[in-house]
Amino acid sequence: MGILLRAESALKSHFQLAAGVGAPPQLQAAMQHAVFTGGARIRPQLCIAVATACGDDAPELTNAAAVALELMHCASLVHDDMPAFDNADFRRGQPTVHKAFSEPLALLSGDGLIVMAYRVLLQAGAGHAHRLLGLMDALTRGVGLPDGIVAGQAWECETTADLAQYQRAKTGALFVAATCSGAIASGHDPAPWRGLGAFLGEAYQVADDIRDVLGDASNLGKPAGQDVANARPSSAQALGLDGAIRYFDSLIEKAGQSIPDCTCRDMLAQLVLLESERLVPKSMCQSYRKKTSASRTTSRTTSRTTSRTSKLAAAPR
Ligand code: IPE
Ligand code: IPE
Ligand code: MG
Ligand code: MG
Repeated sequence: MGILLRAESALKSHFQLAAGVGAPPQLQAAMQHAVFTGGARIRPQLCIAVATACGDDAPELTNAAAVALELMHCASLVHDDMPAFDNADFRRGQPTVHKAFSEPLALLSGDGLIVMAYRVLLQAGAGHAHRLLGLMDALTRGVGLPDGIVAGQAWECETTADLAQYQRAKTGALFVAATCSGAIASGHDPAPWRGLGAFLGEAYQVADDIRDVLGDASNLGKPAGQDVANARPSSAQALGLDGAIRYFDSLIEKAGQSIPDCTCRDMLAQLVLLESERLVPKSMCQSYRKKTSASRTTSRTTSRTTSRTSKLAAAPR
């Protein structure tokens, strides 16, 4: 079974089990909507891929860790989309939870998913007390204070924020939790796996910032132009689009270089490469460059070409 399929089927079975029977039907439906309306499932895939590289001797624990990561991610999206945060109407091509249901149910769905993530881990970790502690540690670091998702989102409430710190917390930290959890679930030291999660996670947010400018609602499945609309710190604004694309490439390259020596190195490098192309496709960069070079020629300014030279990338974007 491929890792995406494994992640998806673990998510389905754990969700059903953890939701139990008898919960308020609208809450159940809202939580279902939050989790099962698409999504790339990159965090659980990363967890499973690292676990595979580490021998995956407790696959049920790996699956539970992967599911817990995705449930936390989905919870963060439900809350992030609410009017108090980014006030977004669409997510994954569907109405957001507060639009499809209501604000109270969106708030409760996010809360419910966070608690469900811990329950899934607890239920699978009974026979692996030591690993369970490590998994709890990794997950809470990824979502809490001082530099997990909650802290990252809270930087938006400050008058000044360091862009890299903001992005590493709101997005990078859960990727670190994903790679570390894969190692911990298999009884390995997570330390060598931090770099892959950190670089890929930061790259993910930089890509999200680039796509917020270059993408549109139909291909993003969520509204574009939100960073400017909500006055969010963004790589595209801080570095310019060319600079942001170069920074993205450098992070992808570092992510590839940071994969520890293991039998699955090629598989992990391929995963990084595929994600890089999915997030910031060459065609998107080329059409952006075409437009900017045309307008530069028109305005008789010198066009500065940039090429994406990631060692990981099969061809320059
Ligand atoms: C979106 O994450 C929010 C960010 C952290 C950039 P994803 O791009 O992983 O969203 P889904 O899960 O595929 O919808
Ligand atoms: C990442 O931030 C989302 C979370 C940490 C929940 P964004 O606000 O940039 O993500 P999108 O664009 O809404 O997916
Ligand atoms: Mg946000
Ligand atoms: Mg948002």
